[in-house]
Amino acid sequence: MELKEVLRHRRSARQFKPDPIPEAVLEELLSYAPWVPNHHVSEPWRFVVVTGQSLRELASLRRQAVLEKRAGQPTAAARAERAEREFLEASAVIVVIQSVHPDPVRAREDYAAVVMATYNIMLVAWDGGIASYWHTGPLVTDERVRTWLDLDAAETPVAFLRLGYPVEVGVSRRTPASERTRWRR
Ligand SMILES: Cc1cc2nc3c(=O)[nH]c(=O)nc-3n(C[C@H](O)[C@H](O)[C@H](O)COP(=O)(O)O)c2cc1C
Repeated sequence: MELKEVLRHRRSARQFKPDPIPEAVLEELLSYAPWVPNHHVSEPWRFVVVTGQSLRELASLRRQAVLEKRAGQPTAAARAERAEREFLEASAVIVVIQSVHPDPVRAREDYAAVVMATYNIMLVAWDGGIASYWHTGPLVTDERVRTWLDLDAAETPVAFLRLGYPVEVGVSRRTPASERTRWRR
């Protein structure tokens, strides 16, 4: 696919086919992640690729995290079950983790780089017919998830990237950049 076509037509996918993504393909997607602009070339990321039994564990933790966050709400159980099912239906979840620098300016710059690294994975995936969905939500701060991921105190998850071959691709809309642009000549 042409780069412009990938940029314009990549969409988040909610539903995935059951087909597994070969590990070699996941490795290839990840190989593009570090090739982003990165001030000080700090490489503030690491990745955890979650499949199989581990994905079932993470899905269950997600259900618990959503259930607790929505405790008392009438839709809590349904939302939690859906959250678990979403992860179970993915072929893999890549957790993108940032090592957070104590200097807030460095941490902010590093976050920008980690986001771009995540987007590289999404774009290369799309180029290969694989869709993704970026999740944050209660998983990011959940203590059991932090322990499960073996995060140290300075690390934080930036993305739980659900990946798979899409059943259908959503539609999305954007305001043309020209409407948000002011030229000063
Ligand atoms: C930093 C970040 C966090 C996100 N977190 C969530 C999330 O927790 N739940 C969710 O449904 N979508 C999440 N998304 C995905 C967006 O909802 C999605 O990209 C948006 O709907 C636009 O759709 P598109 O990717 O198909 O253009 C997140 C996206 C980003 C960049």
